Parts: sequence; structure tokens; C-alpha cells
Amino acid sequence: MKRIAFLASGRGSNFQAVIDSMVRGEVPAECSGLITDNPRAYAVNRAEKAGIPVYIVDYSAYPSKDAYEADLLAAMTKCDADLFILAGYMRIVGAGIVQAFPGRIINIHPALLPSFPGLHAQRQAIDYGVKVSGCTVHFVDEHMDNGPIIIQAAVPVIEGDDEETLAERILVQEHRCLPEAVRLFCQGRLQIVDRRVQRRPDR
Ligand code: GAR
Repeated sequence: MKRIAFLASGRGSNFQAVIDSMVRGEVPAECSGLITDNPRAYAVNRAEKAGIPVYIVDYSAYPSKDAYEADLLAAMTKCDADLFILAGYMRIVGAGIVQAFPGRIINIHPALLPSFPGLHAQRQAIDYGVKVSGCTVHFVDEHMDNGPIIIQAAVPVIEGDDEETLAERILVQEHRCLPEAVRLFCQGRLQIVDRRVQRRPDR
């Protein structure tokens, strides 16, 4: 059974979606920890309720990003996970961490990458005027919101949408796509060839 761990900064609804699918037996994995940079993150309550070990690495308590990431790396190492999931983790992961876990970190982003990377992706989509946005689950590389794409889902932008209504509609798809990507990873069915993710058939 694979071991998975999460990094989350806030509400943690994507974290919850994955652990719920594990409980339902859809994802063959056990969860070895939730790491947060924000001690007030609601994700912490969710982890405690589920009996998952919590590692708080409070970003605001560190003098520099390097010092923070040294302790973040230590917490990730303690989790001893096969896969780390950035589930609403709102910081850029440093190159040292990416290199420590090559091909073993995935992220969910609330837009169809490579459109609208970075913060406020839903607001960016509305401001640009696209008619379709969505979500992307991808492997993390050294560049922000850039690595090989595992799954995407399209979501219509509807006349009158604001950031919040669009975010809500995209979130429904996030809660479907993230557990699915984690399931495929845990079943050993994802392979990165160049920058394409190939999916092996179920055996
Ligand atoms: C989600 O919409 C996720 O895609 C987004 O933050 C939200 C977290 O919600 N992530 C990013 O914007 C990363 N750049 P959650 O805490 O309820 O899962």
C-alpha cells in the first residue's frame, strides 16, 4: 500500500475529498500526514478528526524561505510518503524540495494550465473573459504550475459569474480529479515520458 501525505494552507476540501475516497476504498493508500504552513488552516481540524498526524511548519515563524523550507523538508521526510499532494498549498515549492522527491509531488490548480498560473486563477479567468476554464492536476517541477499534466477537467464560465461562483463550480471538478489522479499514481499507472503523462491500462 502506498503512503501519501498532504501539504495544505487553508480550508482543505481537496484533502478531505482524497481521504474520503481512501475511506471508500477507491484509492489504495494510507495517509501518513498533513503538513501546513498555516497553523489556523481548517485542514488541521479535518486531519485531527481523521486521526492523521499533523505537522505545523508555521511560515510566519521563520526568518527566511530557506529556513522554512529546511523544516518543511524535514517534515516531509518524516511523513515517509511515496506521494506528496499539494492540496491548496499556497506557496511555491523550492527547487530543493522538488529535487528531493522527483516525480513524487502533485498539485491541483483551479484553471486549465498553462492558462492562468499563480494566485487567483479563477479571477484571472473571469477578467480575461474566457468561456471555459477548469482545473488541472499535474506533477510539480521547478517552475510554478508547470509540470507534466495528469488530468484536466473543463468547466463553463457562465454569464454573471464572479470569482466565487466560478471557484465553486470548478471545485466540484477538483474533488473528482484529484482523487482520480492519486488513485492512478497509487496503482502505479502513471508514467512521465518527456513532459507527457502516459496512463497505463488497468491490469
Ligand atoms: C483549490 O481551489 C485549489 O485548486 C487552489 O486553492 C483551493 C484550495 O481549496 N489552489 C491554488 O490556487 C494553488 N495555486 P481547498 O483548501 O478547499 O482544497
